[in-house]
Amino acid sequence: MNNPSQARKNLEYVDPARFTPHFAWKARGQAKEVYCEGVALPEIAERFGTPTYVYSRRAIEEAYDELKSGLGSLPHLLCFAVKANGNLSILKLLAKRGSGFDIVSGGELDHLGRIGVRGERIVFSGVGKRREEIREALRYKSSRKSAAGILQFNVESSAELEVLAEEASRQRVMPGVSVRVNPDVKAGGHPHISTGLHEHKFGVSWQEARAMYLAHRHARYIRWQGISAHIGSQIVELGPFRQALERLAGYLLDLRKQGIALKYLDFGGGLGVRYTKEQPASRKAYARMIAGVVRPLGVELLLEPGRAIIAQAGILLSRVIYTKRNSRKSFVVIDAAMNDLIRPVLYDAPHPVTRVSGKKAQSRARERMDVVGPVCETGDCFLQGWPLGKVTPGNVVALWAAGAYGMVQASNYNGRGRPAEVLVEGKRARLIRRRETQDDVLRTDALF
Ligand SMILES: Cc1ncc(COP(=O)(O)O)c(C=O)c1O
Repeated sequence: MNNPSQARKNLEYVDPARFTPHFAWKARGQAKEVYCEGVALPEIAERFGTPTYVYSRRAIEEAYDELKSGLGSLPHLLCFAVKANGNLSILKLLAKRGSGFDIVSGGELDHLGRIGVRGERIVFSGVGKRREEIREALRYKSSRKSAAGILQFNVESSAELEVLAEEASRQRVMPGVSVRVNPDVKAGGHPHISTGLHEHKFGVSWQEARAMYLAHRHARYIRWQGISAHIGSQIVELGPFRQALERLAGYLLDLRKQGIALKYLDFGGGLGVRYTKEQPASRKAYARMIAGVVRPLGVELLLEPGRAIIAQAGILLSRVIYTKRNSRKSFVVIDAAMNDLIRPVLYDAPHPVTRVSGKKAQSRARERMDVVGPVCETGDCFLQGWPLGKVTPGNVVALWAAGAYGMVQASNYNGRGRPAEVLVEGKRARLIRRRETQDDVLRTDALF
């Protein structure tokens, strides 16, 4: 991968409207505008204000369907990773499509409870599940009479397994459990989103996992039912996935020889998307490869995709506030900032920025400029030396592929209310989360 400090600097211009499903330039009178499905983005900016996240329903559903179709007849459950996007309307539309969910906190479990997702469609990952969170998950409503709460706990340490067993024995239930194994495969687009190496906090080594399975094989309140892994995020090649999956398959067969027959193989998430020039494996090819390895094992597959479903289905719409120039360079100050989309500063993630209206789509010859937000941090910079083209205050711009790990990481830094979210369905644009007011920002403050 690129040296992270260079990953957002002097990039070649790309216009994601040319390759992002359900977003495209269309003629509108004399001018051209970018549309999300049947709604022009400048119209959304006018109606709902900026900054605003905009999602295409069809893009979300298509991405989900592509993964499913690649898995074919293999018994499986896709568990959307709620951490990637926790908007209730988006979770609900995925639930209606048949999706299960992967959660990492009691908070995310509560999201699902509010939209009526059944326990048998939920897996619980995460390295630091608190006792109360485990308790809540054990009590969560499931339509299976005998089952305890959710479908599966992916435990990440012996200490967590002990707490889970204690709580299960108190409630006299027998939860389905898997161990998250760390297959020690290097993968992931940035050090902060690579998770599957021994040096990482996630999961346990195969040696440790094996010892856990064997030590608790006759445990009264633990029902071994799966093995799980998640090797990282924004992985664009199939090689590391195949390598990790084959290791996991080997572990599963080893356990079977020991008399521990598991029903589920949970292979986490991690498939990457195109932000600028990446050429990620397609969702279908990824799913097909997985199905090919898993089918002979005779188990059910669980997958926890987040980014691959929602990243490209969403953009962050913003407006130019000012342009300025010093003796060395030019800046465009937009009304979105690092508190709205932290991925650039957190992971050095490049989100292309383009205008969404103009006489014609952007040409290539242009001055380079830094696209920055209003927050008082030097790091509040989306792209450095980006050839955005001529913009003037008031122009609407899009920050592309912002649907995953965008709004969920938004904060109130600098006293800024978090942005609105809009879902487009054909010709209809609906507000699925209103913009925060200053009352929202200060709601939990106590005044002495
Ligand atoms: C355990 C687990 N599952 C699934 C995901 C989703 O990953 P992605 O959005 O890359 O598909 C993550 C992300 O970090 C994760 O930690």
